Amino acid sequence: MTQRAGIFTVADMTANDVYSPEADIWGGVQLAPAVRAEMATKVYGGGATAVRALDAVSLAIPARRFTAIMGPSGSGKSTLMHCMAGLDDLTSGRVYVGDVDLGTLSDKELTRLRRDRIGFVFQAYNLLPMLTARENITLPLDLAGRKADRGWLGRVIDTVGLGDRLKHRPSELSGGQQQRVAVARALASRPEVIFADEPTGNLDSRSGGEILAFMRAAVDEMGQTIVMVTHDPNAAAHADEVVFLADGRIVDVMAAPTADTVLEHMKALGS
Ligand SMILES: Nc1ncnc2c1ncn2[C@@H]1O[C@H](COP(=O)(O)OP(=O)(O)OP(=O)(O)O)[C@@H](O)[C@H]1O
Ligand SMILES: [Mg+2]
Repeated sequence: MTQRAGIFTVADMTANDVYSPEADIWGGVQLAPAVRAEMATKVYGGGATAVRALDAVSLAIPARRFTAIMGPSGSGKSTLMHCMAGLDDLTSGRVYVGDVDLGTLSDKELTRLRRDRIGFVFQAYNLLPMLTARENITLPLDLAGRKADRGWLGRVIDTVGLGDRLKHRPSELSGGQQQRVAVARALASRPEVIFADEPTGNLDSRSGGEILAFMRAAVDEMGQTIVMVTHDPNAAAHADEVVFLADGRIVDVMAAPTADTVLEHMKALGS
């Protein structure tokens, strides 16, 4: 296999590409994925109404890169993100964050790992209604008993453009503003991996663009790892790679996406 950065799926592997977990080498390429899913399968419900939301998905999310996940509604994007972030468990298969197999952790250990190593921007913002915007943003740090890095926090708040809204509660904020609080909350503690489920879905193109540019800078300048679900080819174009899902399976991976190539791909995949 030729040297290439990015995401490896089982489909990329040839007979000579052997994944060696000890050395973290896949096909001779040194990799240290931030998160890895192996044959991840998630079935909701049972019997005739069972839904196979993830069907044996294997992928490695490279560290220090910006990965987008795309696919039609119901293709399993949120389910994959939740399972990789330890918010939901798999029916079968494994997820590793760094070298930790999430399936081996107790509830308490899993809660700690999520709190210390993962940031999540939910599709529905999940802000706490009784806390102000600022309190919502610093909540993960407060829960962990950690002090905010003032410079970083200031930069996050400036970027999401919430400086004059910090004392408001979620009910006093627009949908877009709540979305921005949710993004700031995930970034505030500089976790190892940030999962963002349609973080710009409710934003106008200008504020969406600012958040995307900030996420891009967090990856390039600070070595952040970000995984983002989006339906928007322009948003996906900020990423290093795009993983396309359909019916709970990875159907394609695209490196160096542009809005045009992503759009063409989506048309070809019929989504
Ligand atoms: N808690 C649940 N119980 C039963 N089925 C579920 C549950 N959550 C998701 N599903 C089903 O699993 C499939 C994948 O859902 P998921 O939310 O991962 O899709 P998605 O790609 O994020 O879609 P969207 O773009 O609409 O957010 C869908 O068929 C959905 O109806
Ligand atoms: Mg979703």
